[in-house]
Amino acid sequence: MRILRTVNEVREALAPARELGERIGLVPTMGAFHDGHRALMRAAREASDVVVVSLFVNPAQFNAAGDLARYPRDEERDARDAEAHGVDLLFVPSVEELYPPGFDTWVEPGELATTLEGAARPGHFRAVATVCTKLFAIVTPTAAWFGQKDAQQVAVVRRVVSDLDLGLEIVALPTIRDSDGLALSSRNVFLSPQERRLSLALPRALEAGSAAHEAGGNAIAAARSVLDGAGEIEVEYVALADFDGPTLVAAIRVGETRLIDNVRLGRTSR
Ligand code: PAF
Repeated sequence: MRILRTVNEVREALAPARELGERIGLVPTMGAFHDGHRALMRAAREASDVVVVSLFVNPAQFNAAGDLARYPRDEERDARDAEAHGVDLLFVPSVEELYPPGFDTWVEPGELATTLEGAARPGHFRAVATVCTKLFAIVTPTAAWFGQKDAQQVAVVRRVVSDLDLGLEIVALPTIRDSDGLALSSRNVFLSPQERRLSLALPRALEAGSAAHEAGGNAIAAARSVLDGAGEIEVEYVALADFDGPTLVAAIRVGETRLIDNVRLGRTSR
């Protein structure tokens, strides 16, 4: 596996694959790999001739400076992990490489990006859309893999790809969960044992919402009542959204950590 740090290095490394018409698979990440990322890498490996993983903690998509500063980073460990999963190129650009001095062009997604995560984190999806569009332009992938845990992100990126005719497939893989039901997230490492116990209210609330929906009841009310009874957590939102299908979404705060999760309604498994 090669580790590349500049846009030109990536373009040069991919030129032969592009000439041969090979399938280039991209997994955009911010590192701190967990089993969710590993599932994306495996799926990309199976479907592609060349697999590129980008590792870039995109400062523009963080709202709070503290959240960016404490975001977990371990490039060496991630590189070993990527190599073990058959990744060919690991693209690890610096902030200056992707946002050089004078950088002044942004991809502004529309209405889809204004609600829920978009409302809670102003500018977040503009930054995600911009960095993804840049990565798509640099790597020119046939397909890119994302986790369904960030359902709104997947919907926004799909819309950007479609609206801007970027010509790649966006593949979303189901959320990977720990045995206790908590969706894997790089931010889970911040949870104390007590906070982790409290966090389990989130997947339980979504299960309850999904069960209520299947029984013809009110998914939001059922999820809310689990969260309201959970103790020391702050509920930011519980809502129904159309993210490539009806989806029950929720965001909570447990101590300093913000967690999001979702479940597709009308299906028996997520
Ligand atoms: O989901 C993430 O890790 C990030 O939002 C992404 C897609 C890599 C863009 O920075």
